[in-house]
Amino acid sequence: MSQLTRKDFDRSLLPDVAAFDCGDVEGPWCAEVSDWIKKPDGALLAIVRYKTKVWLYYLPDGRLVGYGSLGTAKWEWPGIDSPKLKVFHIPFFRVAREFRGQPAGDDQVRHARQIMDDLIGEARRWHATGIEPVVTLYVDERNGAALRFYRKCGFRDFHEKKLASDTTAGKFNLGMVFPF
Ligand SMILES: CC(C)(COP(=O)(O)OP(=O)(O)OC[C@H]1O[C@@H](n2cnc3c(N)ncnc32)[C@H](O)[C@@H]1OP(=O)(O)O)[C@@H](O)C(=O)NCCC(=O)NCCS
Repeated sequence: MSQLTRKDFDRSLLPDVAAFDCGDVEGPWCAEVSDWIKKPDGALLAIVRYKTKVWLYYLPDGRLVGYGSLGTAKWEWPGIDSPKLKVFHIPFFRVAREFRGQPAGDDQVRHARQIMDDLIGEARRWHATGIEPVVTLYVDERNGAALRFYRKCGFRDFHEKKLASDTTAGKFNLGMVFPF
C-alpha cells in the first residue's frame, strides 16, 4: 500500500466505524454494507465463525478511509456448471464518502484501488494454502460506482446469484471474478 496503513478489525475499533452511515444519497445496497462492519452479527461474527479477515485502512493523519475484507467461499469454478471449489471471496468493501474518487490526480492511485490491491495481494499470499487462485464477490447490479470500480480493477462478470429469491437485495446480485 502506498499511502494507507491498516489495522486488523476487532471490537476495540468499533468507535472508528460508528460514523459510517448511508445518509440520503446512497442506494439500497448501502445499509447492508455499512451495518456489516458495525453490528455484532456482521464482521465480528464472520471473523470468529468463518475466519474472515477484516481490515480498517487509515491515512497517515489517522483518518479512517474505509474497510476491506477477505474470506473464502464455495463457488462453481471455473464455470457456472462446474463442481463447487474453495475460492477467495470479498464479503464487503467500503470507502467513506469523503474519500471516494480520492486522491483525484491522474498520477495517484485512488484509495479504493489501494485497498483492493492489498486484498488481492493477501489472496496471492494465502493461495499457498491450496485455495483456487480466484477472488470472487457479489455486487448489486444497480450499484454503478461499485460495478465500474470492480471492472476497472480487473473483475469480470460471472453469474447472477442463484439465491436470488432469498432476499430483496439478492435479486440484484451479480457475481464477479478476478482470476490471478
Ligand atoms: C465501491 C467503492 C468502494 C468504490 O470506491 P470509489 O472511491 O468510488 O472508486 P473510484 O474512485 O474508482 O470510482 C468508481 C467509479 O464509479 C464512477 N461512479 C461514481 N458514482 C457512480 C454512479 N452512481 N454510477 C456509475 N458510476 C459512478 C466514478 O466516476 C468512478 O469512475 P471513473 O474513475 O471512471 O470516474 C465506493 O464507491 C463505496 O464504498 N461505495 C459504497 C459501498 C459499496 O457499495 N461497496 C461495494 C459493495 S460491498
